[in-house]
Amino acid sequence: MSHQNSLMQDPAKLTLEKLHTAAKGDRWRFVGLAPKLLTGFFRGKSFMEVLSSSAMKECFIPVSPEQGELLYLTARAQGAKNIVEFGTSFGISTIYLAAAAKDNGDGRVIGSELEPNKCKAAAQNLIDAGVSEYAEIRAGDALETLAELPEPVDLVLLDGWKDLYLPVLELIKPRLRPGAIILADNIFTFRKALRPYVEYMQNGQNGFSSTTLHIGEGFEYSVYLG
Ligand SMILES: C[S@@+](CC[C@H](N)C(=O)[O-])C[C@H]1O[C@@H](n2cnc3c(N)ncnc32)[C@H](O)[C@@H]1O
Repeated sequence: MSHQNSLMQDPAKLTLEKLHTAAKGDRWRFVGLAPKLLTGFFRGKSFMEVLSSSAMKECFIPVSPEQGELLYLTARAQGAKNIVEFGTSFGISTIYLAAAAKDNGDGRVIGSELEPNKCKAAAQNLIDAGVSEYAEIRAGDALETLAELPEPVDLVLLDGWKDLYLPVLELIKPRLRPGAIILADNIFTFRKALRPYVEYMQNGQNGFSSTTLHIGEGFEYSVYLG
């Protein structure tokens, strides 16, 4: 385990700054998407169906820098070796996690991303950040690509489409070690869609202890007790 924090040094620091700046353009991308989104609503599609469409393939929708730092610190505190991510997008969260995997020694992040253009861009962003050796991005539906994982899993980030948090968690759960941490984003943005997930994590019947952190758009922080 190294004493350094790769996030505080280039090239990771500079790459993350550039990517967070580029991600601020999402607000204009959303404005451009408004007609398409409205058409979806008028055709009776649900909010999740509209948001999950390939219309979002240019949008970053990343974790905030504060959430990214929490991901890094959590992985460092655990000495995490096996980290899994549902929803890589352009790789911002993956860089925070891969930096921790690097600084922990021989850790590794397995990311997952549905959109081919995002997989390609994320791979390049990981190279630019100097952490590509510590990450692998699996292209396709996470329900298939995350079926095989190295064990035990120490840390999971759930940040893909919200109706799949529970199915993806169920897929990974048998591989979690006691003390594994699951962080799930957008609890406040998608309060209704994520209610079943939050209830599952917080009801004490499923092996987890959990609380919602008021950072970013709501970050569910859950510990697997085994
Ligand atoms: C909110 S973004 C992820 C942001 C990323 N974690 C970050 O912080 O930069 C959600 C991503 O999940 C991807 N996604 C959604 N459903 C997926 C699935 N079933 N399998 C893999 N990726 C999926 C979407 O294409 C989208 O890029």
